[in-house]
Amino acid sequence: MMSKYQFLESYRFKNGMTVKNRIVMAPMTTMSSFHDGQVTNDEVAYYAARAGGPGMIITGVANVSESGKGFEGELSVTDDRFIPGLAKVAAAIKQDGTKAILQIFHAGRMSNSSILRGKQAVSASAIAAARAGAEVPRELTETEILTIIDEFGQATRRAIAAGFDGVELHGANTYLLQQFVSPHSNRRTDRWGGSFEKRLAFPLAVIAKVKGIIAEAAKEPFVLGYRFSPEEFETPGIRFSDTLAFVKKVKSELDYLHISLGHVWRTPMNDQSNQLPVVTSIKEAIGELPLIGVGSLETPEEVEKVLAQGVEFAALGRELIREPKWVQKVIRHDQSSIRYKISPSDFDELTIPRAMQHYLQTSFREVIHLSTDETTESNAYLKEVAPMEGYEKKL
Ligand SMILES: Cc1cc2nc3c(=O)[nH]c(=O)nc-3n(C[C@H](O)[C@H](O)[C@H](O)COP(=O)(O)O)c2cc1C
Repeated sequence: MMSKYQFLESYRFKNGMTVKNRIVMAPMTTMSSFHDGQVTNDEVAYYAARAGGPGMIITGVANVSESGKGFEGELSVTDDRFIPGLAKVAAAIKQDGTKAILQIFHAGRMSNSSILRGKQAVSASAIAAARAGAEVPRELTETEILTIIDEFGQATRRAIAAGFDGVELHGANTYLLQQFVSPHSNRRTDRWGGSFEKRLAFPLAVIAKVKGIIAEAAKEPFVLGYRFSPEEFETPGIRFSDTLAFVKKVKSELDYLHISLGHVWRTPMNDQSNQLPVVTSIKEAIGELPLIGVGSLETPEEVEKVLAQGVEFAALGRELIREPKWVQKVIRHDQSSIRYKISPSDFDELTIPRAMQHYLQTSFREVIHLSTDETTESNAYLKEVAPMEGYEKKL
């Protein structure tokens, strides 16, 4: 018997790559890479356990520059010596046709001197993030900006060599790509800042560099995605209208866009008069370009509603931590056994690395739905920012 769900249908990107279904595993750092960013066997096992079901799995984020490391246990793609480890992750993901996407970034001012082993974090301008304990970063020089653009290109070359099917530029959750777009973190007056147009110069240069490398080095269709946050909450800050202008500007350069939201149906938070879900307005603005929606999706019916709005892909984050075989269970009509809560006693069985277990039980305790706890409602992030979006709860 064929399943009734539209999300089990395949999708063909304009570059010819076909994805077997519309479920994407959202990028989630495991906090479990070696101290220098080398892949660990725990990570390979974690991805292998979740492979085979989703059409695409996007890895936790990997830093492209030494100065771009954002937290301990993060993947690194700063050097060719990381290629063999990354190749193990790509191979583990590519079971039964799942496509492997490497998420890449520079953390900018979201890092600190402890993570950077004594070095000061860098950003567009020397303005600290609006969060408790944030350090003031150093403003990047022109030469350093050009180096980082090149490092995004080198990271892409390594992703291709490691066997990935694509890279996703992490331009969301307040990291460096977003820091250049934001009038809060970017106060420059040179060609990288000033007007809105100039604040887009850095992401556009990164996209152009990465596209050039893909054209040069990829032998198979290789996709380029971009993740973005729809708005900021600081003043000055990115407003939803800026984001609509941004996505219209970049849409022809990409294979997909991926929004970052704690709840997929959230409406703009800075403009209460706009009651249209952010994801609906973005889809309208980008036309044919495929969009990945995300945020608090758990059940097949919830996912189906996202696709019914014309959004091509639905990403599941926490739900695929709790239920590695979500897609396989839907296909086998075994939905009643899908786990929506997770027991700490099952962490090892679910191949969740030890460092990630700790991370989930501390930073994400309220949102991971532990069977031992009273948990927050899955609709909690319809009206507020989720901890997964790069902000502290109280802004
Ligand atoms: C443990 C954990 C790690 C995360 N790491 C990343 C990351 O590396 N890159 C990223 O873009 N988002 C990251 N996120 C955010 C998720 O990709 C996703 O947007 C968020 O969890 C909302 O989706 P969900 O409600 O399905 O979990 C992380 C989220 C969690 C829970």
